[in-house]
Amino acid sequence: MRVLVTGGAGFIGSHIVESLWKEGVEVAVLDNLATGKRENVPKGIYFYKVDLRDKEGLERVFREFRPTHVSHQAAQASVKVSVENPVLDFEVNLLGGLNLLEACRKWGVEKLVFASTGGA
Ligand SMILES: NC(=O)c1ccc[n+]([C@@H]2O[C@H](COP(=O)([O-])OP(=O)(O)OC[C@H]3O[C@@H](n4cnc5c(N)ncnc54)[C@H](O)[C@@H]3O)[C@@H](O)[C@H]2O)c1
Repeated sequence: MRVLVTGGAGFIGSHIVESLWKEGVEVAVLDNLATGKRENVPKGIYFYKVDLRDKEGLERVFREFRPTHVSHQAAQASVKVSVENPVLDFEVNLLGGLNLLEACRKWGVEKLVFASTGGA
């Protein structure tokens, strides 16, 4: 099992990463560090500083890491920001999420877990 955790440098994602890592699962993190922190990701874990809106960046991550499973935690998760800037919310949570789903389809990912977001 090779698990890609989007938003793995954030609050929930980093705990998922740590838990999978302790189980001996091969893990990679995709995060643009908008709110997440690099130091939340343990050393030794593959880290890709990539934005969900960047289709080429996503393609590179899937080509290199070849995840079998994806845990999708990356989001613009702030309700306040979503009210102030709904376009950003749409771009990250909807279009970014769709980019991720398309990459999963293209690269034959077996299962995706989606946290969803109150921000959307
Ligand atoms: N924390 C909660 O109480 C809670 C409750 C309900 C749902 N959720 C959902 O769970 C998920 C994770 O929430 P969290 O609390 O860990 O938030 P968080 O902000 O700590 O983590 C989100 C991560 O996504 C990354 N990110 C943001 N935009 C990105 C982009 N365009 N490309 C790549 N990475 C990007 C951030 O840098 C951050 O590391 C979100 O979908 C959130 O809405 C959280």
